[in-house]
Amino acid sequence: MGETVDIRDTQYNYSVIRKFAIMTLVWGAIGMTAGVWAALELAWPALNFDQAWLSFGRIRPVHTNLVIFGMGGSALMATSFYVVQRTCQVRLAYGKVAEFVFWGWTIGIFGIMLSYPLGFTQGQEYAEFEWPLDYAVAIVWVCYFWVFFNTLLRRKQEHIYVANWFYLAFILATALLHIFNNITIPVIDGWTIKSYNVFSGVQSAMVQWWYGHNAVGFFLTVAFLGMMYYFVPKEVNRPVYSYRLSIIHFWALSFLYMWAGAHHLHWTSLPDWTSSLAATFSIILLLPSWGGMINGIMTLSGAWDQVRTNPIVRFFVVALSFYGMSTFEGPLMSLKSVNALSHYTDWTVGHVHSGALGWVAMITFGSLYHMIPRIFGAKLYSEKLVFAHFWLATIGIVLYVAALWVAGIGQGMMLRGFDPNYGTLTYKFIETVQFMHTPYILRALGGSMFLLGGLIMIYNFIMTMKQGTKAQADKHAVIPAVAAHA
Ligand code: HEM
Ligand code: HEM
Repeated sequence: MGETVDIRDTQYNYSVIRKFAIMTLVWGAIGMTAGVWAALELAWPALNFDQAWLSFGRIRPVHTNLVIFGMGGSALMATSFYVVQRTCQVRLAYGKVAEFVFWGWTIGIFGIMLSYPLGFTQGQEYAEFEWPLDYAVAIVWVCYFWVFFNTLLRRKQEHIYVANWFYLAFILATALLHIFNNITIPVIDGWTIKSYNVFSGVQSAMVQWWYGHNAVGFFLTVAFLGMMYYFVPKEVNRPVYSYRLSIIHFWALSFLYMWAGAHHLHWTSLPDWTSSLAATFSIILLLPSWGGMINGIMTLSGAWDQVRTNPIVRFFVVALSFYGMSTFEGPLMSLKSVNALSHYTDWTVGHVHSGALGWVAMITFGSLYHMIPRIFGAKLYSEKLVFAHFWLATIGIVLYVAALWVAGIGQGMMLRGFDPNYGTLTYKFIETVQFMHTPYILRALGGSMFLLGGLIMIYNFIMTMKQGTKAQADKHAVIPAVAAHA
């Protein structure tokens, strides 16, 4: 009788990654459809059909939460579990706990999708889910940390690859943010589920934007940089341009982001010095952000010919370019004088989506194109469809962002227009709304193109998965007996 070999020692755990990858696509499709619907409602408000559950105020957080936590969160969990295993050359620790993380997270997002249209909300941006979901998320998150951290501890490689540093910082920072921003007093009254934050007034605003900004910093930026540091070098088959730079910008980002949240509250009842402090740190943030962007772009040097031939590399180039652009725009908007114009306008929403679509979604799509064929054991079904997706997404982003620059800056100028002869405002509020009608239509068009590209990607993946074989996937999942580069 031959010796029985324990699969746990010889193969990576791809099962939980496959599930997270599928849910990334599901949440992406629903979340972006909600985004397109919200965009259409802003252009034609009658599209809420007088239904409370379909009103803009309820659909908007469904959109933001499903794309950030549903699509983004599932993509980060899928890729972090993939990257940590392959770079540590060890099977994922605590497989059953990892399964629990998948089911817990998925059911939690499902709860979000149902509870917001029904009107349950804490009223805190990006943390709208009510206290039962707050507790559930906290438990799932601790388990996520446990699986990831223990896999790191069990590594066969002496060195912890830098992508894992980024993922770990994201996991720790998100736990910290989630706990402090959700210190609430729960209330149950019949079927009413409600909670009240222990902070009030200006303290509440500060805690909320310390949370909100660092959700952008650690969830939407640092974590996706982890993705970038693994998938860009792997796809182009070149080493990271500068390992030293990656470490420096990791520590600089981790230190600086925490101080900048108050730039969301300029010109409010905040003490003025907190505003200035936040603006200062935001300006300094340009340096490490561009350090990361340059490191990513330079990793492609010597492989630029691949931009012509490999559509996946194009996703990475556009992602890094938008990362650079949005992290230039952000510090600019954090200046109090610029913010006086941009705040309360659609310029902010344009900035958000140059980061969210251009950076977050594009780096995710590129990484999924690399990872999904490998974990399902198949060749990508169609390269032509990847090109089609790329162009739809890129033109869609440009339309979206350019439309909102025009809308936002125009809106800001109109809101502050002042007639010195009469001492009155130049424009009535309704005129600013009318002015934004055309850009809103263009944004909805750009968003629809982006969504269509995403649906093409999903079709491409379904066909890829159908062709996949277990034997091929198992072959890719073999853990090298001797430590080697992953
Ligand atoms: C099909 C593509 C998308 C469309 C059409 C779309 C549309 C919208 C709309 C209409 C809003 C509300 C804006 C407002 O309140 O005035 C919004 C907000 C937002 N969306 Fe999207 N979105 C899309 C994709 C995404 C993705 C992929 C992400 C994140 C990865 C994202 C993140 C956000 C965030 C964070 C906000 C809140 C912005 C703010 O408060 O300033 N969106 N989106
Ligand atoms: C150095 C980097 C960055 C800085 C300093 C920065 C700064 C800013 C500033 C000043 C605002 C406007 C605040 C306001 O007037 O209310 C803002 C809004 C926002 N930014 Fe950035 N940004 C940066 C990068 C990014 C990136 C890469 C993303 C997305 C991936 C992003 C997502 C957002 C979101 C979601 C908001 C809107 C929050 C809200 O009002 O709901 N930012 N950012």
